[in-house]
Amino acid sequence: MALDGWQPTKLIDADAEAGSFRVHRDAYRSDEVFEREKALIFNKCWLYLGHQTELKKKGDFFARRVGGRDIIFNLDKNGKVGAHYNTCTHRASKICREHSGNARTFTCPYHGWVFNSEGQLSSQNAKTGYKEGINDDGHLNLKAVERLEEYRGFWFVNFNPKAISLYDYLDDGRDAIDALMDQTEAQQVILSGEHTYSINANYKLLCENSYDGYHLFPVHASYFDYLRDQMAGTPAADLIDATIADYSSNGAVRGLGNGHAILDSYVPTGRPVAQWLPSMGASVKPEIEAKYARLVERFGEERANYIATTQKNLVIFPNLVINDILSVTVRVIEPEAKDRIRVTAWAMGPTDESEELRAMRLDNFVSFLGPAGFGSPDDIEMLEICQTAAAHTPVEWSEISKGFGPAEDHCKVTGAPDDEVQMQAYWTMWDRVMSGEVTLEVE
Ligand code: FES
Ligand SMILES: [Fe+2]
Repeated sequence: MALDGWQPTKLIDADAEAGSFRVHRDAYRSDEVFEREKALIFNKCWLYLGHQTELKKKGDFFARRVGGRDIIFNLDKNGKVGAHYNTCTHRASKICREHSGNARTFTCPYHGWVFNSEGQLSSQNAKTGYKEGINDDGHLNLKAVERLEEYRGFWFVNFNPKAISLYDYLDDGRDAIDALMDQTEAQQVILSGEHTYSINANYKLLCENSYDGYHLFPVHASYFDYLRDQMAGTPAADLIDATIADYSSNGAVRGLGNGHAILDSYVPTGRPVAQWLPSMGASVKPEIEAKYARLVERFGEERANYIATTQKNLVIFPNLVINDILSVTVRVIEPEAKDRIRVTAWAMGPTDESEELRAMRLDNFVSFLGPAGFGSPDDIEMLEICQTAAAHTPVEWSEISKGFGPAEDHCKVTGAPDDEVQMQAYWTMWDRVMSGEVTLEVE
């Protein structure tokens, strides 16, 4: 598709003095924009591949699609993490058709070429026809993804060999990941099993939704009714309405640089990490209080309080969401088309929690954030009706102005929990990358 002559800057219309931030709806509905996003965003940004703790034993692998490319994520026989393109160097077949497993070698289903866990070609399954030493330079080995780096066990790939480091790319997003990984002195791990589902909406609609405090009470009213019922007759019975009344003055949304942003908010669900509420039952109270006391010893009262009691919805630009709320969900949004996404979500938790707390954590994962939980179906309905309306009506602009005003850098602004400055940070970065103003490459 020809992209010449396309004017990317026309898609964002920001006037800080007037408090107006608008996004042209072509950003959600145009094939041309989607093609350009693949070239400029998904080929240049760091994209989440998987977590270290998913690879438990040497030989463990996952076949994943990341930024439209099939990749094998594995732990080789030397214990090194690898990311190779899942395509045979012979005549292109997909090498690994399993979703996950453990393998010393990968055998191509087409003509039987065999590759070891490090991606090296070890057999061409033929006695004749190939010259001795044909692969001495290694060009027939599986192709490694250009860049593979990790931060605290979160492995990302980048298809641009000149990309800045993951460390620099994550910017203040590192602190948000620290607040999650520091919850335990044992290990924070991906728990087995995953949710996958598709939504007929543009990937950015789900990014916006994932840290949108503004939609919480209109869309999730039934969830708050459920919490009220849970707390009826307990000393916390008035907590829900007090929280709703106070929501916008307690917490913040914060731009973290490079398009990443977080919603820090207070919602009375309780958190297995270290926030006990009567609705969780008396039996888990001592364990949660001990966890909290230990966090205070390690980090001081202020940081411990942030780690334990703040609900955090983090979006790492362009498509990773980490919801550290009533349980922890790591969610990656794979765009399949301008109006279709494939979502994969994993639960995360510490290895040193009791069975009772673990059960509560998993129940929370399923009951709110699961595809059939209290939260996700309502959100999905909203995203799909937004996508349909954006595509079929002549109204051209979406208004994302709440909390917008003059700032030195709109990628690092702060606002109230129900403002939209986190989305303004995202779109500002999106516009910078799409217009070529920011390359995310080392000079
Ligand atoms: S395509 Fe893989 S062995 Fe031929
Ligand atoms: Fe929601």
